[in-house]
Amino acid sequence: MRAVDIIIKKRDQQELTSQEIEFFIQGFTNGEIPDYQASAFAMAILLNGMTPQETADLTLAMAHTGQVLDLSKVVDIAVDKHSSGGVGDKTSISVMPMVAACGLPVGKMSGRGLGFSGGTLDKLESIPGYRVDLTTDEFKQQLKEKGIVLTGQSLDLAPADGKMYALRDVTGTVQSMPLIASSIMSKKIASGAQAIVLDVKTGLGAFMQTLEEARELGELMVDIGRLAGRKTVALLSDMNQPLGSAVGNALEMIEAIELLRGRAPKDYYEHCLHLSAHMLVLGLRAKSLDEGRSMAQKSIEDGSALEKLRVLVEAQGGDVSYVDDMSKYARAKYVEVVHAPRSGFISQVHARIVGEASVALGAGRAKKGDPIDHAVGFLIHKKVGDKVEAREPLFEIHANDQAKLVEARTNVLSAYAFSDEFVPPLPLFYE
Ligand code: URA
Repeated sequence: MRAVDIIIKKRDQQELTSQEIEFFIQGFTNGEIPDYQASAFAMAILLNGMTPQETADLTLAMAHTGQVLDLSKVVDIAVDKHSSGGVGDKTSISVMPMVAACGLPVGKMSGRGLGFSGGTLDKLESIPGYRVDLTTDEFKQQLKEKGIVLTGQSLDLAPADGKMYALRDVTGTVQSMPLIASSIMSKKIASGAQAIVLDVKTGLGAFMQTLEEARELGELMVDIGRLAGRKTVALLSDMNQPLGSAVGNALEMIEAIELLRGRAPKDYYEHCLHLSAHMLVLGLRAKSLDEGRSMAQKSIEDGSALEKLRVLVEAQGGDVSYVDDMSKYARAKYVEVVHAPRSGFISQVHARIVGEASVALGAGRAKKGDPIDHAVGFLIHKKVGDKVEAREPLFEIHANDQAKLVEARTNVLSAYAFSDEFVPPLPLFYE
């Protein structure tokens, strides 16, 4: 078998066999197939798609490029969550400690920023010392001892996805249903949680822009999860506008921590409660979503979720003072408040424009391995459905470069649309 023939076959819209997929993924992982062939392969998949069978084969091939953990030997049940990617989505950083504080072990391997969407690892690294490179043994031990792990992809868990993810980010091959499904599910299967809650985003700032596409992605991933013997559910949530207020690594980290102190934008708070409730039900700690929701709420009110975050940061070598002192985070040199150009109801805050503007400020990467600027980003003060008066603060730019700030101002202003008529707020979840 030759890699080039497999690329050509996919380019010519033919269905690949599981042996061909496995050959390609193994070769790419062990370095025999170079990045340029893997990029061409990813582009052929993006352009021509894959059948559900090919996607399942791709997922399992990627999951089996490394160890596949069996966490049932470590804890009675562990739950994992994953988002399909969005703007301002810092949910894992709040939800993992909330759920762990309710006595349900949570272990998760997260990713870096991908295209215009932010990545949990990049956000976590705003805390000096925080290790995102735990080994598999460390992962298991920390899960057993602390009940919470939030790390990056260790080299021995789904290494194919680690390599492919970094390539996709910079080769225009992010927005592909089979690539997203296999990326997410290979990590989830390899990291061994018995229960998985998938947060599938839909809307202008999601990789799946329509509800139909998001539903298809959700169903595909749920089927793959079940095929691999995992209890899997998918929620379809809104990503037309950024989630919460903060967009950008350190700013999002701060907002995620503030939530655990009971201070967060309402949409973000509600989103986290709903996700936590599903995790607690799936992980058999709550009998109903209502019970799960009150448990999650209580973990914030009694401070146990915040304490769990301290435990997590300490266990992974981070400076714990960053959980309690928000003034420690890297701050941008220039902070500018941008005011509403007119009065009316906000009818749109285009999440993708905001996400791309944040990458342009330096919060994301243009090439593989580029450093990122943790301090830059936005605080979105007004969201869809809000009524504003002309010259009221609309959003805030945090930048380290004047020219980029000017560009960001224009771009994010263009993300806003106004209406003279009442506009209802966007739903948080669709299904
Ligand atoms: N999250 C992932 O882990 N992979 C994707 O491709 C998209 C979101």
